[in-house]
Formats: sequence, structure tokens, C-alpha cells
Amino acid sequence: MEIRRQYFETIDSTNLEIKRIAATGALEGTVISAGEQTAGRGRSGHQWETPKDVSLATSILLRPTVKIEHVSRLTLIAAMAVAEAVESLYDLETEIKWPNDILVNRKKICGILTEMDARENQVQYVVVGIGVNVHTREFPEELREKATSLDLELERLGMDRAKTSRRDLDEAIWNHFQKYYDVFQRTEDLQCILDAYNKRLVNREREVRVLDPLGAYTGVAKGMNERGELLVETAGQLRAVDSGEVSVRGIYGYV
Ligand code: BTN
Repeated sequence: MEIRRQYFETIDSTNLEIKRIAATGALEGTVISAGEQTAGRGRSGHQWETPKDVSLATSILLRPTVKIEHVSRLTLIAAMAVAEAVESLYDLETEIKWPNDILVNRKKICGILTEMDARENQVQYVVVGIGVNVHTREFPEELREKATSLDLELERLGMDRAKTSRRDLDEAIWNHFQKYYDVFQRTEDLQCILDAYNKRLVNREREVRVLDPLGAYTGVAKGMNERGELLVETAGQLRAVDSGEVSVRGIYGYV
């Protein structure tokens, strides 16, 4: 896959722009990034704030040849790419909260929204959209305990926050993503990220509550498998939890 980049000072949503150009035949690997989103979209129909020149908003158009049921694995690859990009550019350690929250100092710095268009059980295209808090200094009350930014964390560690650049980060994220995507297209599994992902998994050996629609239960998270499922030990049994079907909460607060 070859990456082609376009930048907008302001746009409604980079995910929406990818959808528009996908419909007119744009090529796989097209990346749209923006300095500001006026209608940024988060998961579960939430809004995602992207005030001017503060955070990174970037989306990629993919036309994967994989089975529909494997598409959600792309979000995990994107999470891995963000973690590696941040660590390669800045002196920060990242952790991953399964399935796709990237944490620094146990707080979220990034959100990922993957959307798919499929017809007759065939994937037409996929959009992976990534938002990273880069220069953010203030969060709304309800996010203050849960969210942070690269600048805030570098500052906390006494490091130079003038170093952060949305452009460098954008480039590094998609370079890391591309490397894994090319392998994933052949294997359709997550073997290529498994060790690096599990090394950063914040849920590991922690109690989690699995909100399974068939009945919630508590267990200890053991790690992710190559299918992207979280393995949870409960009542002497290892259960594989699929991110599309159930959600997992830490027992003690956010993590
Ligand atoms: C989440 O709710 O955690 C996911 C947030 C995803 C936000 C990004 S910003 C770039 C792309 N464009 C959007 O409108 N949303 C995603």
C-alpha cells in the first residue's frame, strides 16, 4: 500500500471526507488530516472535539481484501501503530487498554474510530480515523481524570514539549500502520503485533468485568490472542472476549 496525504485547515470530519472520496473511487492509502474538525465523530455516536491546531485528526482509506469479520482487527493494528509512533518520537511510555485506547501515565491520549462500507458480504472500503491529544492543555471536567495530552505528559516529566509536532506524528503513525497492514492483508490475523501489543497491555493480570449481553462476569485478563480477542480467566476457565460483542471495564476505575 502506498500512502498519499492531503491536509485541510478545517473540515467537518476526516472520516466523513474519506467516505466522500471513497465513493468517487479514491485509492487505498489516501490519508486525510485536518487542523480542525467541526463535526468530529467518536465511538458510539459521540462527538469528538478537535479544536484548531491542538490535536491530530487523521484518517486513512483502506480497501482490504480480508473477510468482513476480520476488519475490526484493523483498529488493533492502528492502536499498535499509535503506541509505536509516540514512543519512537518522544521519550514517553505508552500502554494499551484493550481493545484500542492508548494511554500515557494511565490516561487516554488517543481515540480510534473504524467504519466500514460493505455490500453483499464484501468489504467496499474501511476508514480508520485516529485522534491524538497533542497540545491539549484543558479537558472538560468529566474527562480530566481520564484524558491527557503529549504536551502535558512531557511537561510533567520535565521534558521539552516544544518537540511535539502533529505532522511528524501523523507521518510516523501511518508508516507504522502500513508495515503491519501489508502483513495483515496476507495473514488476516494479529500475530504480527501480538508480542508488542501484549507487552503494553494495561489490563494484563488485572481484574476486569466483562459486560456480556448473555450475562456479565468478572475475571482476570491474561492477554490478547491473534484473533484480537481478550483472554479472560474466570472460574478456572479461559474465555475469549470479542471486542465487537462485549465491553470490558476495569474493576477499579478507568483502567
Ligand atoms: C473515540 O471515541 O475514542 C474515537 C474517536 C476518533 C476520533 C478521530 S479524529 C479523526 C477521525 N475523524 C473523526 O471524525 N473521528 C476520528
